[in-house]
Amino acid sequence: MEHSFERLTTPGQDGKQSPRSYVLRAGHMTDKQKDALQRFYEKYGIPWEPGRIVNALSLFGPRMIGSFIVEIGFGMGDATANIAEALPATGFFGIEVHAPGVGQMLLEIERRGLKNLKICRHDAMEVVESMLAPDSVDGFHVFFPDPWPKKKHHKRRIMRQDFVRFMARRLKPSGYLYFVTDWEEYAEATLEVLRSETLLVNTYEVWADRESWRPITKFEKRAADEGRTVRELIFRRI
Ligand SMILES: C[S@@+](CC[C@H](N)C(=O)[O-])C[C@H]1O[C@@H](n2cnc3c(N)ncnc32)[C@H](O)[C@@H]1O
Repeated sequence: MEHSFERLTTPGQDGKQSPRSYVLRAGHMTDKQKDALQRFYEKYGIPWEPGRIVNALSLFGPRMIGSFIVEIGFGMGDATANIAEALPATGFFGIEVHAPGVGQMLLEIERRGLKNLKICRHDAMEVVESMLAPDSVDGFHVFFPDPWPKKKHHKRRIMRQDFVRFMARRLKPSGYLYFVTDWEEYAEATLEVLRSETLLVNTYEVWADRESWRPITKFEKRAADEGRTVRELIFRRI
């Protein structure tokens, strides 16, 4: 299916595009993760191909009748694999740039025999922009995105007004955007960004309760132990 995409370009003051929301570091990769990348990416991975439409039908075929959920930045994929296993009728599309995480996720998909999870190793902002059609997604998960705490780095944050609008347009009516962070100031800033998006409404007065199917990860337990509050926001497309 051909589709013409609007572009996600937010020129900075100097006319350059905004910086990426991640920095690729040569993180350590285990032999198993490397091996999984080579052996299983073809099976469970979707190549970066701008203009190619990805949706529940193209990824999972006509028998997948449940919702279609896109996860932005799944990290090592702990939460993703558990959620996908718990909700087998829902199709998941996870996007991540970090190679060890992608390798680990591939291992988990293979080990658990997950039929409802596909992944893409690429910048999620570009994938949302160029591979998802309007009104096609039932939910976006953005769990613990990098908070970029220093003020000079705020422009790297993924929950930018223009990217939120891109996600909102790709949601079906009533589709949701589920954001979680343990960084209070990022939570407050994202609340304002989401409130300013006219296509979205808050499903709670302010902070959402954790959905029962969202597992508490190790990272999150540590945040709680260190006294940081985990904030959740669930907005829906009108
Ligand atoms: C702090 S980690 C959180 C990972 C995971 N969601 C969790 O809850 O454990 C943020 C992740 O987002 C990824 N990330 C950041 N910007 C991204 C982008 N534009 N596209 C894909 N992944 C991105 C990073 O590589 C990192 O793995």
